[in-house]
Amino acid sequence: MCGIIGYVGHKQALEIVVAGLRRMEYRGYDSAGLAVIADGGLEVRKKAGKLSNLEQLLGEDPLPSSTTGIGHTRWATHGGPTDRNAHPHVSSDDRIAVIHNGIIENFHTLRTELEAAGVQLESETDTEVVAHLMAHTLPEVGNSLPLAMQAVCSRLQGAFTLVVVDRNQPDVVVGARRNSPLVVGLGTDGNFLASDVSAFVAHTRHALELGQDQIVVMKADSVVVTDFDGNVVEAKPFDIDWDASAAEKGGYELFMLKEISEQPKAVADSLLGRIDENFRITLDELSIDPAVLQHINKVIVIACGTAAHAGMVAKYAIEHWTHLPVDVEVASEFRYRDPIVGPDSLVIAISQSGETMDTLMGLRYAKSQGARTLAICNTVGSTIPRESDAVIYTYAGPEIAVASTKAFLTQITATFLVGLFLAQVRGTMFEDEIRGILADLDDMPRHVDLVLDTAEPIRELARSLASARSVLFLGRHVGYPVALEGALKLKELAYMHAEGFPAGELKHGPIALIEEGIPVIVIVPSPKGRAVLHDKIVSNIQEVRARGAQVIAIAEEGDESIIPFADHIIRIPAVPTLMQPLVAVVPLQIFACEMATGKGHDVDQPRNLAKSVTVE
Ligand code: F6R
Repeated sequence: MCGIIGYVGHKQALEIVVAGLRRMEYRGYDSAGLAVIADGGLEVRKKAGKLSNLEQLLGEDPLPSSTTGIGHTRWATHGGPTDRNAHPHVSSDDRIAVIHNGIIENFHTLRTELEAAGVQLESETDTEVVAHLMAHTLPEVGNSLPLAMQAVCSRLQGAFTLVVVDRNQPDVVVGARRNSPLVVGLGTDGNFLASDVSAFVAHTRHALELGQDQIVVMKADSVVVTDFDGNVVEAKPFDIDWDASAAEKGGYELFMLKEISEQPKAVADSLLGRIDENFRITLDELSIDPAVLQHINKVIVIACGTAAHAGMVAKYAIEHWTHLPVDVEVASEFRYRDPIVGPDSLVIAISQSGETMDTLMGLRYAKSQGARTLAICNTVGSTIPRESDAVIYTYAGPEIAVASTKAFLTQITATFLVGLFLAQVRGTMFEDEIRGILADLDDMPRHVDLVLDTAEPIRELARSLASARSVLFLGRHVGYPVALEGALKLKELAYMHAEGFPAGELKHGPIALIEEGIPVIVIVPSPKGRAVLHDKIVSNIQEVRARGAQVIAIAEEGDESIIPFADHIIRIPAVPTLMQPLVAVVPLQIFACEMATGKGHDVDQPRNLAKSVTVE
């Protein structure tokens, strides 16, 4: 949510900043803007809408050459998506330019104070106050940018990543970080600050993690990190294990299509090195003592959106394998009730970005109650894993399309590893049982590949249903979170009314939505798993068909018994019951993508959304 980049070095800042914004545009596309320091002055260009609007402006009104610059792509919170509200914001004396990600909660008080002092604010944003406060503070601290940043940060409440440049100090960029992401890229021709490593991975794969409440002072040949009191701290270096091409479309028309196609590899990579030659789980990176895991009496999964759906799948598996109760909580609700969580709880925070504020706040609450915490995360060095006791990284590679696809499959995979590991250390399963499941899991990339190879019928179906006003999704057992995920994908990409239900719940109210011709997509459980689930869903299908619905069954290969009950059947490979979500969700992702494309929507950057939601 909002992408930030800063560069100072020996190369032209403009190209670096614009390319960085291009890579981070998925974080917000309400406006884009940048500032460079040239010939002793600040030059700012900004424009509402997508980055292409800014690029057009830069064509009409080019910038002078400069080796110091900052840039921002915005997801609007305070103030509409207008040119005036676009970042950077500049102090009244044109000395300071600032970009920001987060929400400054006390901006109103600060704004009133500045207005009383005669400052005229130009925008409706919470950010602009920082530019004026910096300009007022600098003369009081001997024009030291780090000291001014410390003083200003001590006055701000809320979440903020700030990056600031000063017209009078063209060789330095200063950043500050509280509760929103910021990483440093260490280059040979200069250094970078960005919300996300994708912004600078084309230039360097060496990076530094910044902690909470830290300030970074960056010059072409040096980077100094301090806390908010000015004490120097040692930032943890890390290397980025993918290259720039991983964050490019690689011949695909859409990032989402590329990411859907990468799912077999993403699952395989997330299993790599975690199953030994004897099919035992080796979660070497799990730094929670097995003795502790033997004594927990409850698992709580906190996550949002798609990641929460992965958590719901995990609940069925972990309860089945370990007999531990597993609660799955939408993270934004978790800490605002009085959850029963304590030292005997294992709290698993699932997050692709590792920066989702709702999840982060839930995690902090769980820690404050003494819980053991484990992150399942796709972004090395991000906040959620950094603040957890342990982390299992997923290896989906960069997910650029705003709607999550490959991360979902890897999150399920990782939770399964954790569940089986718990079963292993707690002795709730026989070793040969665990081996059998791991062998099945190991086989899943092949099955997902098969779904991708046979996806044409679901595309055709999406085209034939282009005029549908609403689509319902039904599932039972692990098919229920898949139904929720199918509906979420359709809502966010095709902007259609779509809902997912547990199939048995329909008759308790939602069945009133059924009208003549409405498409109902049903995730059919394997008849070989728990036959009763299959029988029950057939009854649910009959109930909606009797009321005019057209039923699309997502059913496993070889399930002939479903044929009389469905108007269309999309076949998926027969896999063990608990693994079905890994194959059943893929046609639903493709369905939503095709529907959205047919409607002419921007699939990679759906309206109103942004990836990595860093506000509560
Ligand atoms: C939906 C989607 C979101 C995210 C959610 C959590 O397609 O992408 O629902 O899953 O915002 O994000 P992370 O996993 O980054 O915490």
